[in-house]
Amino acid sequence: MPTFQKVKGTMDVHGHYARVKEKLLEVLRSMAELYAYQPIETPMMESTGLFERGSGDTTDIVEKQMYTFFDKGGRSLTLRPEYTAGVARAIVEEKLYANNDLPLKFHYDGPLFRYERPGLGRYRQFTQFGVECVGVDSAWLDVESLLLAVESLSYLGFRGVKAKINSLGGKASREAYRKALVEYFTPHVESMCEDCKRRLSTNPLRLLDCKVESDKKIAAGAPNILDYLVEEDKRRFEETVAYLDLLGIDYVVDPGLVRGLDYYSGLVYEINIAGKKDYGAVLGGGHYDDLLSELGGPSLPGVGFAVGIERLIASYIDEGLDAHCDPGLDVYLMPIGEGAYRESAPLLIEVRLNGYSAELPPAPGKLGSYFKRAERAKARFALIYGDEELGEGKANLKDLEKKEQVEIDLSKLSEELDAHLGREDEHVI
Ligand code: HAM
Repeated sequence: MPTFQKVKGTMDVHGHYARVKEKLLEVLRSMAELYAYQPIETPMMESTGLFERGSGDTTDIVEKQMYTFFDKGGRSLTLRPEYTAGVARAIVEEKLYANNDLPLKFHYDGPLFRYERPGLGRYRQFTQFGVECVGVDSAWLDVESLLLAVESLSYLGFRGVKAKINSLGGKASREAYRKALVEYFTPHVESMCEDCKRRLSTNPLRLLDCKVESDKKIAAGAPNILDYLVEEDKRRFEETVAYLDLLGIDYVVDPGLVRGLDYYSGLVYEINIAGKKDYGAVLGGGHYDDLLSELGGPSLPGVGFAVGIERLIASYIDEGLDAHCDPGLDVYLMPIGEGAYRESAPLLIEVRLNGYSAELPPAPGKLGSYFKRAERAKARFALIYGDEELGEGKANLKDLEKKEQVEIDLSKLSEELDAHLGREDEHVI
């Protein structure tokens, strides 16, 4: 019989890891809702041209990392390598800017696909949670997106969160900087890697992002983008930084931060979590001016970020923040004897209808085996009863942690459960 293995760079998600993932996504979504972002879903596959045009056809993502295929109708489709281009496409195509107050604020999460070399914190299928705020140009909105990112990480329990920030400026600044980069790198061209030789003419900004050691050394002496910002961009960056100071957001200005997508202009940022292991940036984002117009829409700016959920989970677990992610079972039913077992279904249904998770052993058995199962299921309470108790409308409710047991009246099951289990606060935040 043939056996099958998962595709390289993908993972099966279950058990504790799945619980942690759900919890983190729930918190991130709730935080974004507090900031007035609304959910949006876009398709997992898009026309290949969207990413070539939107994300940038000379970026590594588009040049090397896309899962592109022809469907049976001969269309070139791509599994999304990032969300921003797809969200911008939806805003343009559905004319969402026309009927809604601006800015539009969306949050999203789901799987993405990049053909990268799998490694620590790097997968070929991974998950992002992200936000996009589109339609109004404002330093405050740029900062608010970063504030949401930082506050979300702090809320999750990460300490000492520090953002790296930079400004790529607008068109004029970038053009001046591009010229300066070409001038600087041209004398080094012979010793640069093949990718960088190409980047020198296609996308010089990418030269600052090369991972080859010898090229990194050359890049270290490159001109500083902040020296090439035109007056307007300089002022905007100062305004941004003033907000960050006002809010007490911890940041460091890193002029080498250029990001791996082409749509950025103005503020860009990334956050790494300094923990046991370095998984790379846990999130990245920034401001973009021309993405919507590049896609045939109106000239509206946007700002947003995306969190790499697998990297976030890894750091969350490393930091020991995940202890409370498994809710466990509320009530484990323990019918003594076959007769009581047969009568258990209505009781089980009633407990669940009251909003408490409950389980019945798969077959009648001994009390000792029930307790072992209850422990494995992390049950908080056991509901113990035999034929006789059921006949009298009674059962014993045992707190499995405190080892205390009380007799309860089954006709008042709902009140008894509320009194003993106490309803959890349903708000995530
Ligand atoms: P990005 O920097 O390409 O930005 O990805 C954001 C985050 O996704 C990264 O910081 C990282 O945590 C995670 N990530 C990226 N590639 C992988 C991978 N192969 N395996 C695991 N995690 C990965 C964007 O995608 C932009 N769309 C963000 C944005 C939104 N900018 C504006 N709005």
